[in-house]
Amino acid sequence: MTKIKFGIAGLGRIGKIHLDNLLRMDEVEVVAVADPIATELEMARKKGIELVTPSYETMINSKTLDAVVICTPTDSHANYVEIAAKAGIHVFCEKPLDLNLNRVVEVLSIVKASGVKLMLGFNRRFDKEFVKIRDLVEGGEVGVPHLVKITSRDPGAPPISYIKKSGGLFLDMSIHDFDMARYIVGKEVIEVYAKGAVLVDEKIGEAGDIDTAIVILTYEDQSMAVIDNSREAKYGYDQRIEVFGSKGMVQSNNNFHDSHRLYTATGVEASLPLHFFLERYAEAYKNELLNFLGCLINGDSLPVNGQDGLISLKIGLAALKSIKEERPVRIEEIQ
Ligand SMILES: NC(=O)c1ccc[n+]([C@@H]2O[C@H](COP(=O)([O-])OP(=O)(O)OC[C@H]3O[C@@H](n4cnc5c(N)ncnc54)[C@H](O)[C@@H]3O)[C@@H](O)[C@H]2O)c1
Repeated sequence: MTKIKFGIAGLGRIGKIHLDNLLRMDEVEVVAVADPIATELEMARKKGIELVTPSYETMINSKTLDAVVICTPTDSHANYVEIAAKAGIHVFCEKPLDLNLNRVVEVLSIVKASGVKLMLGFNRRFDKEFVKIRDLVEGGEVGVPHLVKITSRDPGAPPISYIKKSGGLFLDMSIHDFDMARYIVGKEVIEVYAKGAVLVDEKIGEAGDIDTAIVILTYEDQSMAVIDNSREAKYGYDQRIEVFGSKGMVQSNNNFHDSHRLYTATGVEASLPLHFFLERYAEAYKNELLNFLGCLINGDSLPVNGQDGLISLKIGLAALKSIKEERPVRIEEIQ
C-alpha cells in the first residue's frame, strides 16, 4: 500500500496530538515536521520522523509531501496554507485561517485555483455527543429547531501573550461555537448580537479582550441560538449543547472522568468534567484526521472546508462589531 506522506508544522499543544494520531494510522507516513523549538524537533526525531527542521519552507520544498497539517500560531496559517497550495500539497489547517477577512478570501481563491483540498480544524463536528445531536436534529426528532443553547466555558484562561496573538475570545475560542451553531441545525446565521465583559482577569481587559460573553445568533428562518462563554469555569471544561424544537428537545452533557454518583445523607457527589480540550476532544481529533484521510484516499467531500472557516470568522467579526457599536449586526455588513 502506498502511504500518504504527511508533514506537520508546529509541535505545540495541538500539533503533538495530531502527530501522535497520524503516527497511529496505517495509511499514513509522517515524513517531516517543522518547528523552531529544538526540543520539539528532538521529540519528533525520537518518534522516527525523517526530516525535522525549524523551517516550514524547507519541509515543503523537500518534495516528498502529499499533505501538511498546520498547527502553528494563528498569524502564520494563511501564509503557510498559501505556500502549501502553490506547491500542490493538500492542507489540514487549525482554526482560524486568519483574523483578516480579506486575507482569508484571498487564500481561499489561491487554494481553489491550486485544486488542493483544504480542511479546517473544527474538531467539535467530530465529537460523538454533538454528532448524535446533529443526527437527531437532521432526522427530524425534535421537529423544526426553534432554539439552540451552546455553553462553552474553558477551565482557565490562556497566557496573555497567547490572547494577544490568537484573536481573543471571539476569533480564537467562540469561533468553535459559531461553527457548531451552524453545524448542529444546518442553518445559516444572518444576525449577531453580543454582550461581553471582563469578569475573570483584568489583565485580559488590559490586553483589549473580554473573558465572558453572551452571543445571540439569529438564523435565516428567525430561529435563534444563544452562546455563553467564559474563560474560567472552576469545575473544568464545560461543553454542552441543547436544541429545542417544535416536537421536542435534545441535550448533550459534559464528559466526566467517570460516571459514578455517590448518594449520602448530605448530598449527591460526582466526578468533575474532563479538564480541557485535549481530554474532552481526544477522540474527535482522531476522527477529524481520519475524515481528512478519507477525503485524500477516497475522494470523499470535505466535512469542513475553507468556506466554513470564512463564515465562522464573519460571525466572530460581527460579534466584535456588535460589542463595539452596542447593537445587533447583520452578517451582510461584514465585508
Ligand atoms: N482545534 C482545537 O481544538 C485547537 C486547540 C488548540 C489550538 N488550536 C489552534 O492551533 C494553533 C496552535 O495552537 P497551540 O495551542 O498548539 O499553540 P502552541 O503555542 O502550543 O504551539 C505552537 C507551536 O508552533 C511552533 N511555531 C511557532 N512559529 C512557527 C513557525 N513559523 N513554523 C513552525 N512552527 C512554529 C511553536 O514553536 C510551537 O511549538 C492555533 O492557531 C490555535 O488556534 C486549535
